[in-house]
Amino acid sequence: MKDAKSRPSQFRQRIGRVPLLMLGILSLVLGVWGGLIRVPLNLPFPTENANWITFHGPLMVCGFLGTVIGLERAVGLGKWWTYGAPLLTGAGALLLIVGVLGKKGETLLTLGSVVFVLAAAEVVRLRRELFTVVMGLGAVTWLTGNLLWLWDWPIHRVVPWWMGFLALTILGERLDLSRFQKQVRSARPLLWVALGVFLAGVVWSAFAQRLGERLLGLGLLAMALWLGRFDIARRTIRQAGLTRYMAVCLLSGYVWLAGAGILFWLRAPLEYGSSYDAALHAFFLGFVFLMIFGHAPVIFPSVLLLPINFRPVFYVHVVVLQGALLLRLAGDLGGWPGLRQLGSMGNGIALALFLANTIWSFLGPWLGGAGRRERSLGGPLDKPAGGG
Ligand code: HEM
Repeated sequence: MKDAKSRPSQFRQRIGRVPLLMLGILSLVLGVWGGLIRVPLNLPFPTENANWITFHGPLMVCGFLGTVIGLERAVGLGKWWTYGAPLLTGAGALLLIVGVLGKKGETLLTLGSVVFVLAAAEVVRLRRELFTVVMGLGAVTWLTGNLLWLWDWPIHRVVPWWMGFLALTILGERLDLSRFQKQVRSARPLLWVALGVFLAGVVWSAFAQRLGERLLGLGLLAMALWLGRFDIARRTIRQAGLTRYMAVCLLSGYVWLAGAGILFWLRAPLEYGSSYDAALHAFFLGFVFLMIFGHAPVIFPSVLLLPINFRPVFYVHVVVLQGALLLRLAGDLGGWPGLRQLGSMGNGIALALFLANTIWSFLGPWLGGAGRRERSLGGPLDKPAGGG
């Protein structure tokens, strides 16, 4: 039972976090809108704010994911200054969205990643463990990518660093949640090999794009195989309800991670066009978004201090996302633009369904309509049994 006195302060915390979360979600919605126009799809658009199209990638990676992950980290650490990370990235994204010219948006986003690196260093200081170090490396790759972007490197040369940010953050999270599982002896050295190849690829891509991206692809494949073999999700998939749902998201995400790795290996160097679209979105939508779908029932409650109510309808956005992504990749790789458009539209619908399902799972019980449900996770430190 929570102390009644703590309720007002919890309420204030919750309310304070909502604007930051909203800035992240705004980046997601407008970033996806810009991405859909870039496919191309004939959608209405206020042309004076052309940044949504040009900055689709930065809005998704730095504006949405950077802000949400920064917020989650700040909530976990509970130190006021760490909120500077989501505040700066959220403000930077807003400048990009409203079409402010010059480098103000990029600068704020980069400053946000500086605070994020400091927060990651604080986490390592507090808990010197493999998973915190891996997450810390992820923070450093994000900052490096942002600096390169600020120094006018083209986005396709920055993308490997941004991928490093997300791959290492997610890997660190999975290592954390699988920590108490008994591992075979070879697990740790194999992880180092996968990590080493991946990081070598990211760094090398800055000097020799083709070789670097091929190595990066090999590293992604190795990570996918490692996670598929050693992640606790292999066990928890035999459970029921929310725990099984999370495991389904995770394991299918690892398949997309392997697919992205193979595409990078086969099609490097990637700069624009259909192979670029296929490899990038196998990673960002297939892997990263399935991880978000799987972790959302943990992240949203910990940030908003509200329990989420799992409902089987959550599987709908998981299925629609993957079905549409398959169509999109078939369109990309087979040279069928119509299929690419159809798949991309399906991806947008899946993300809208995800938002709608998540919001409804919070609001439904208050409005008396969530039906049969399984409550999850009330506070910041709660994790599901076995971590999905
Ligand atoms: C409905 C969902 C999405 C659509 C329709 C979409 C569409 C596109 C398109 C058409 C491109 C340009 C590809 C090319 O140059 O040939 C692109 C690039 C990119 N996308 Fe997406 N995308 C979506 C979701 C995402 C997500 C979820 C992320 C990240 C989390 C993401 C990150 C990127 C990045 C980093 C680039 C490279 C940007 C650049 O080179 O300027 N996209 N996307």
